Amino acid sequence: MKIAGLCAVVLLSLAALCQAETAHSPATLASISPKKLVVNATYVIDGQNFTGAKVTTDKLYAPGMPILQADEDKVLVSYAVNSSFTANASGTVTLRACWTPKSIVDRPWRKANPVIDSGYNKQCTHVIATGLNSSKGTAEWVVAGDIGLSNMFVRAYVYNPAPAGAAYTETPVAYGDSVGFFQVQKVDSRPPALIASVAVLSCLGPAFLISYFAYDKFAKKRA
Ligand SMILES: *[C@@H]1O[C@H](CO)[C@@H](O)[C@H](O)[C@H]1NC(C)=O
Ligand SMILES: *[C@@H]1O[C@H](CO)[C@@H](O)[C@H](O)[C@H]1NC(C)=O
Ligand SMILES: *[C@@H]1O[C@H](CO)[C@@H](O)[C@H](O)[C@H]1NC(C)=O
Ligand SMILES: *[C@@H]1O[C@H](CO)[C@@H](O)[C@H](O)[C@H]1NC(C)=O
Ligand SMILES: *[C@@H]1O[C@H](CO)[C@@H](O)[C@H](O)[C@H]1NC(C)=O
Repeated sequence: MKIAGLCAVVLLSLAALCQAETAHSPATLASISPKKLVVNATYVIDGQNFTGAKVTTDKLYAPGMPILQADEDKVLVSYAVNSSFTANASGTVTLRACWTPKSIVDRPWRKANPVIDSGYNKQCTHVIATGLNSSKGTAEWVVAGDIGLSNMFVRAYVYNPAPAGAAYTETPVAYGDSVGFFQVQKVDSRPPALIASVAVLSCLGPAFLISYFAYDKFAKKRA
């Protein structure tokens, strides 16, 4: 009886020890705040560099908002840790595209969760790049084709390397957000007037042909 009790105590403390070694408290934005990375995002729209000012109004079609066509236009990202943070040289940076607060409203599939790497955090599901240099770097991203009408920004996370042999992947130790939003548009962005005139022309085409043949026939009959 005594031996069984002792065994239980030993096993329990062993379990606690193991847990202390593998458990690492999940990072939240609050736990790794303030932002320690400067993240710049610029845009290539229709093959042209976007030169407008940064738009910080979280609203669709806000004045000056860069509007990117999904599956077509590009986001160019550059990032660097600021002087308040020294990155572990063998760490990595992951860049993600995230929905803005307004673009999350009423859309549970985009919902943010305080725990960054929890499966419940859906705000930044689109990965732009992983395994990048932990102190500074650049990346280029063609907006994913499955992104619907929404406003987005870019978030960068720094991960420290997991200790050798660790059974878990590390949690983020620093982050930063791009300033200003970009809007993603899935639908055809051609101006409605152009589509309308194409439609009119394609209706008129056959009409012209028919009237030409009618005229031709009529004129020939008369000749
Ligand atoms: C950079 O570092 C300072 C602390 O020195 C911090 O307060 C600031 O928010 C940091 N973030 C960015 C993005 O510059
Ligand atoms: C757009 O900017 C990138 C670098 O930011 C440059 O390499 C490229 O030539 C520019 N393209 C145009 C069309 O100006
Ligand atoms: C971000 O842009 C600012 C302003 O153009 C520039 O001074 C800074 O060096 C850039 N930082 C990075 C990390 O690209
Ligand atoms: C990351 O970038 C820094 C600064 O440019 C450089 O000194 C360092 O060697 C790079 N690290 C890796 C792993 O490439
Ligand atoms: C970087 O991370 C490795 C692996 O976790 C660790 O052994 C090393 O001490 C870290 N270096 C610094 C400067 O924090």
